[in-house]
Amino acid sequence: MSIPATLYWSGEADGHLRLIDQTLLPNALVEMECHDVPTVFEAIRSLRVRGAPAIGIAAAYGLCLAAQQATDASSLRTAVAAAAEHLATSRPTAVNLFWALERMRAWLDEQPADLTVDDLRSALLTEAQTIHDEDRRMCRAIGRRGAPLLAHVQGVLTHCNAGGLATSEYGTALAVIYTAHESGQSLHVYVDETRPLLQGARLTAWELQQHGIHATLICDSMAAHVMQAGRVQAVVVGADRIAANGDVANKIGTYGVALAAAAHGIPFYVAAPSSTFDLALASGQDIPIEQRAAEEITEPFGTRIAPTKINVYNPAFDVTPAEYIAAIICEQGVIQPVTAASIRALLTH
Ligand code: MRU
Repeated sequence: MSIPATLYWSGEADGHLRLIDQTLLPNALVEMECHDVPTVFEAIRSLRVRGAPAIGIAAAYGLCLAAQQATDASSLRTAVAAAAEHLATSRPTAVNLFWALERMRAWLDEQPADLTVDDLRSALLTEAQTIHDEDRRMCRAIGRRGAPLLAHVQGVLTHCNAGGLATSEYGTALAVIYTAHESGQSLHVYVDETRPLLQGARLTAWELQQHGIHATLICDSMAAHVMQAGRVQAVVVGADRIAANGDVANKIGTYGVALAAAAHGIPFYVAAPSSTFDLALASGQDIPIEQRAAEEITEPFGTRIAPTKINVYNPAFDVTPAEYIAAIICEQGVIQPVTAASIRALLTH
């Protein structure tokens, strides 16, 4: 079965954004419509659209919606700037959000002063669609670059969802697995359920099934045991932000997986497009970590499982130090070893 687009713009500049409401998967495959900035903001914050690249693309289209209300070029520029500032507060960790908003802002600034409001709306939509198209190409390139790393692997473990649902299509970590699979390799994927919001159980397990890839779902706490039992020979995950020294922020639990992989001599790979690097941050210590509501842990999916008033700590991401990462698979190439110099060399050549 072919999976519908994670998100897309419907129509011309006066159109709207449509996206799969990922909070309903895998029980229901429902598309929602976004006709204004508050709806896009809420969709990002509530993880209806999630995953670093997809968040960036959604935000870029959000600015196209902001432009629709304007009556002249000057009010359009003001409305888009205000919307960009607002959307930037939807989630703090994935740098693709800020990267896409900044790129849209810079593009608008570059447009000649005499363009009409209609010209500016079209220009914004063109740039958002360019960001979207580039992401499609980056995911395919990541798949091609990364697949050879899995050449002698039978079992691979992944955490969270870094698949088509987290990007334009095809994914980053899962792109590597899809490309290996499409070239005829037989892979078995161990999928961490990914507490507390279960992106692995709900999204990755579903996506892999749609692609006909053998997958086994495990609780997060089983990953080290699966490695010890010799069931996996590699780990591939995505990233939300990569600092200049190669430290990687990704879904909470990723760091523990990296430590377990190191203890078992299993290579731990990160797959991410260049838009996920934040070279302005020297190390992962500087990456802002999103803190989310206590109810995600005490009342998952509406069922209370912990006593009321219990203290809760709910960081949504953690940082894996570069020393635990065997390679970062980027659309431009494979960064190996992961050092500040090798990252700079690839990204700024
Ligand atoms: O909170 P989420 O679901 O947005 O977190 C997503 C992740 O951590 C992904 O691994 C990351 O964004 C990479 S997506 C290609």
